[in-house]
Amino acid sequence: MIIKPVRRKLSPAASLAASRAWWESSAAEYQAEHGEFLGDSDFMWCPERVREADARLLGEVRGKRVLEVGAGAAQCSRWLAAQGATAIGIDISAAQLRHARTLDERAAVRSTLVMADAQRLPFADESFDLACSAYGAVPFVEDSQAVMTEVARVLRSGARWVFAVTHPIRWCFLDDPGEGGLTAKTSYFDRLPYVEQDEDGTPTYVEHHRTIGDRIREITAAGLVVDDLIEPEWPADHDRTWGQWSKLRGELIPGTAIFITSKP
Ligand SMILES: C[S@@+](CC[C@H](N)C(=O)[O-])C[C@H]1O[C@@H](n2cnc3c(N)ncnc32)[C@H](O)[C@@H]1O
Repeated sequence: MIIKPVRRKLSPAASLAASRAWWESSAAEYQAEHGEFLGDSDFMWCPERVREADARLLGEVRGKRVLEVGAGAAQCSRWLAAQGATAIGIDISAAQLRHARTLDERAAVRSTLVMADAQRLPFADESFDLACSAYGAVPFVEDSQAVMTEVARVLRSGARWVFAVTHPIRWCFLDDPGEGGLTAKTSYFDRLPYVEQDEDGTPTYVEHHRTIGDRIREITAAGLVVDDLIEPEWPADHDRTWGQWSKLRGELIPGTAIFITSKP
């Protein structure tokens, strides 16, 4: 049984173990709930329905070697490969990667997948032309500075790193798509992790909050520059709810932040 979420300190090992266990046990449910919206071979950035095919935040991908961080069932990597990129998806969850293989079979393609932690990438320096992440890994890791530093290390000079995360302002509100999620309840400045836990206090699901300033400092400390910050608006004809993301809230408060960064 899951008890009320709390904001509390957690060791990096406990955070990683909770994330791994959650994605192992919830991958099937997650894909059943969101798979149709994501598409088998599509690049969906966020619940606000921003598709890379329309937004082109990555620029030209053809001929590029692209790293997808926290790829899940690799829908984005499959889309990138179909555009002529060489895509490599990493994820910590074997269950998510098994779903990727199922989708590969359906699409008659073979994605390149590596089971790895985004905080320690198993790739050589300057071995990618582009990196991206649609809510993969960054919101879930204790050390998002390590993710920025690792991605910067594996990118070549001039390469872009584009990642989508929960918009930091959302951390003031309850995880509720309805009216209950419209009143600020928690300090924006509270960086303690959001933890769902069982009766014994064992963490079952964890997310880590950073403010906008924290994210910018982590990006620049990794030697990257911020080229843009996209705060997608909720489309008028879109009424699909995804967890806390709903039309009601989306029309009032940004739900996603997409950081467009590059390596000088
Ligand atoms: C919300 S899903 C995003 C995946 C895909 N873009 C999607 O929209 O379904 C988050 C993914 O990040 C992965 N993840 C969480 N922590 C990670 C870590 N430390 N390293 C690599 N992947 C991680 C999870 O296993 C999960 O597949």
